[in-house]
Amino acid sequence: MLPPIFTAILLLQITNAVKTSEFTIREATIDDIQAAFKHNKLTSKELVQFYINEIHKLNPIYKAVIEVNPDAIHQAEIADQQRKEKSPNSRFRLHGIPVLVKDNIATRDKLNTTAGSYALLKSVVPRDAGVVRKLRESGAVILGKASLSEWANFRSSIVPPPNGWNARAKKPVNPYVATLDPCGSSTGSAISVATNMVTVSLGTETDGSILCPSSNNSVVGIKPTVGLTSRAGVIPISPRQDTVGPICRTVTDAVYVLEAIVGFDKNDAVATRKASKYIPKGGYLKHLKSGGLKGKRLGIMRAYPSFGFANDTETLNKFEKHFDILRQNGAILIENLEIINFNSIISMFNGEDIALVAEFKLALNAYLKELVASPVRSLADVIAFNEKYAGLEKIKDYPQDLFLAAENTNGIGKLEKEALMNLTKASKYGFEKLMKDNKLDALVTPYSDGSSVLAIGGYPGISVPAGYDKDGGPYGICFGGLKGSEPTLIEIAYGFEQATNYRKPPAIKNQV
Ligand SMILES: *[C@@H]1O[C@H](CO)[C@@H](O)[C@H](O)[C@H]1NC(C)=O
Ligand SMILES: *[C@@H]1O[C@H](CO)[C@@H](O)[C@H](O)[C@H]1NC(C)=O
Ligand SMILES: *[C@@H]1O[C@H](CO)[C@@H](O)[C@H](O)[C@H]1NC(C)=O
Ligand SMILES: *[C@@H]1O[C@H](CO)[C@@H](O)[C@H](O)[C@H]1NC(C)=O
Repeated sequence: MLPPIFTAILLLQITNAVKTSEFTIREATIDDIQAAFKHNKLTSKELVQFYINEIHKLNPIYKAVIEVNPDAIHQAEIADQQRKEKSPNSRFRLHGIPVLVKDNIATRDKLNTTAGSYALLKSVVPRDAGVVRKLRESGAVILGKASLSEWANFRSSIVPPPNGWNARAKKPVNPYVATLDPCGSSTGSAISVATNMVTVSLGTETDGSILCPSSNNSVVGIKPTVGLTSRAGVIPISPRQDTVGPICRTVTDAVYVLEAIVGFDKNDAVATRKASKYIPKGGYLKHLKSGGLKGKRLGIMRAYPSFGFANDTETLNKFEKHFDILRQNGAILIENLEIINFNSIISMFNGEDIALVAEFKLALNAYLKELVASPVRSLADVIAFNEKYAGLEKIKDYPQDLFLAAENTNGIGKLEKEALMNLTKASKYGFEKLMKDNKLDALVTPYSDGSSVLAIGGYPGISVPAGYDKDGGPYGICFGGLKGSEPTLIEIAYGFEQATNYRKPPAIKNQV
């Protein structure tokens, strides 16, 4: 039995909860939440408490969250206090807004940063990742770490674990259709947002890891131009392809998060300095405008795989209505485009695997070396750890052939240089040529099929919900563009979203 004083407090809290229930947190956008803060209908602390309760209730089913930040409530209280005092940072859009970051993004706090692997549990990072520092500066509350495909899916290609699986959080579940692949590797980031366990999240992408889970969980994912967002403090695969981006329920929320995390970071200086020139004067928000599709030239390649719809009648039938919507909203669809020497160009994509294993070893070793403390200090240590703790890591079921292949590389040698040259050529004579020759604003691809085209050249893409199959499985449409084309892609994605509003929340109650 609780002493009477506690019962009184409990009652008070219940009364408060009833009072705030006039504001519905589920599916609330950042604008909705900021308005509720402003009109004293909601506090950041109540919001965080709501999500923590939801995580306790839903996460045993969905496995989307790997750790909750023990300091989240305290951070929310600080945000509430700052709002009361009208402190300057309380006018930021992300002020008091809870964010989950993928577990390969470092936070220098009580949270672990492990890429889902026990090998990195209790490792101590030197500092917050560049993007986390920017989130904190904008007043966001770090709610915790989102689950992911272990090592961002760079452990095995022969027997890859199920998408989203990691040794610590186990296998996540698609909230729309439990038997459907939730895709990876930013699986938890997508599922947690889709199921309203958090307002917004961050994912990372090397090839498909933001676009694919966004598509398969009916949320919006922005894969920024490589270098537009800092990768410092992110457990790497390849600095040439890795990028950090938002996963959210709406394009607007995703753009608010993007706006907060872009820009120069001295710990990822070369890439972020170079890409800073792409940040538009006055920021990204003005590109959330009505009529954004008007006059946009969109490439639709019906025939080609990777660049389009691969002559796939079923997918084409599904997307004809989307093409109509784009046309009705003023876009100019350029169809039946050709890629000269397509077969030779697509064969050069094979260089990706050769380049990635070599880059992974160099980048991971550099990350591990920089840790303040860690059970593992090199890729070789990680491999040894996985062997030693095979039971823990389920190594018998999920081998580490990519790790072994990476460990066998020796820097960027002759083979790697040739592979990298091929990738540059494939981009130059493939995607770049296609976009420039036809003056395209974006290439439209189904699902995350275009991810490799965008990955190998460091190009941006946005995935927007595009509907549901007969079985209820969600799917997305992807708009990809040249480096720095985020403002245009945002106008297109926002235009499509406003014209369709496909996203609907999963029917959680039926599954619980
Ligand atoms: C980080 O990992 C350690 C070791 O397992 C654990 O005790 C601690 O609770 C973890 N931190 C959080 C915030 O879960
Ligand atoms: C994603 O969802 C589609 C159905 O919409 C499914 O066919 C596919 O297997 C899922 N996973 C991936 C990796 O695309
Ligand atoms: C797509 O289908 C058309 C018509 O059947 C065919 O001519 C073309 O070669 C196919 N393209 C590819 C890339 O498979
Ligand atoms: C580069 O591309 C050429 C032509 O497609 C191919 O023959 C060669 O094997 C590729 N090299 C690498 C390292 O991928």
